[in-house]
Amino acid sequence: MSERVVLAYSGGLDTSVAIPYLAERTGGEVVAVAVDVGQGGEDLEAIRKRALACGAAEAVVVDAREEFAADFCVPALQANALYMDRYPLLSALSRPLIVKHLVAAAERFGGTAVAHGCTGKGNDQVRFEAGLSALNPGLKVIAPARDFAWTRDKAIEYAESRGLPIDVSSKSPYSIDQNLWGRAVETGFLEDIWNGPVEDVYDYTADPAVQRDPDEVVITFRSGVPVALDGRELTPFQLIDELNRRAGAQGVGRIDMVEDRLVGIKSREVYEAPAAIALITAHMELENVTVERDLARFKRGVDQRWGELVYDGLWFSPLKHALDAFIAESQKHVSGDIRMTLHGGRAVVTGRRSDSSLYSHSLATYDTGDTFDQSLARGFVELFSLPSKMSAARDRRTRD
Ligand code: ARG
Repeated sequence: MSERVVLAYSGGLDTSVAIPYLAERTGGEVVAVAVDVGQGGEDLEAIRKRALACGAAEAVVVDAREEFAADFCVPALQANALYMDRYPLLSALSRPLIVKHLVAAAERFGGTAVAHGCTGKGNDQVRFEAGLSALNPGLKVIAPARDFAWTRDKAIEYAESRGLPIDVSSKSPYSIDQNLWGRAVETGFLEDIWNGPVEDVYDYTADPAVQRDPDEVVITFRSGVPVALDGRELTPFQLIDELNRRAGAQGVGRIDMVEDRLVGIKSREVYEAPAAIALITAHMELENVTVERDLARFKRGVDQRWGELVYDGLWFSPLKHALDAFIAESQKHVSGDIRMTLHGGRAVVTGRRSDSSLYSHSLATYDTGDTFDQSLARGFVELFSLPSKMSAARDRRTRD
């Protein structure tokens, strides 16, 4: 039986060239699958036509924007997911969704193999292949850039020699991956980690140093899901999309960092994730108000582990699944409003209100109306510090 290769297709040069190349190399057929995760740019129909023009036997385009928002960005928000305390995982979140649609296409069109355009140096190859082995381990994997050493120059030459309908002229010096949750920029002059990013690296965010009026926004959450902006109910996709524009206009969410890849390399990454950073800031504060202390303390460790698992490509793993259940339970009371000021590159919380608040004004106040019985504190502190008091006494006793 000849191979039917399901290709993760972006519409760009490398994956367009992969269509005739994979067909030739395997003597089979290629099914191109393009998934819209809110990356913007070209419309899906143009991408589908290009795949067919490059020789794909079938071309499938999937508008997965709402699915990406609801099933991938929202869980990441509930986990306050920031890898190495900074990176909101935008690329790591889209790969398992793309994998789901590749597997679905393979099942629909009788695919026997899956191909992706990742190199051997990054995390994305791991995310694709770990996802595939969880969802359909019977599918073979082909990665032309990694396995057959495809380079950009080779791809241009190939495209020109075959007369493929691709624009080879627009050569960006950067490697860019973008979606609804943010934008990642790497390579080029950024590989010198002493070089500061120049303004033209950015696309989702305006320069935060430029003078402008601040923007104020109220974000409403229901059980950890953002449901409204300024009182207007929106779908997760609409809400994130609008907040990207508003927070982006204030320069919120720029990140410049050196990151530990799973393959062991440290890499320079520039990200911009205006909505993700504003939402995580708001969500964390609403958790501060509504989540009981021990649950909140424990959850910080869970959040970090969740982020590492997702970064490492283990979206479909048992531990990630079990942590999802914990996080879902923790979100039961995370409902209410957070008011924020977006300005000068920062999203700053200025107000919080919630029917499930654990904040009690009468317990916290230093004014009249205080209901906290301070006389109870003396005994509490005495017993609470008893173990360290005893061990300090022992240390004094046994010191020579
Ligand atoms: N370093 C980030 C990650 O591993 C971003 C990767 C972006 N991918 C790309 N092909 N440019 O999640």
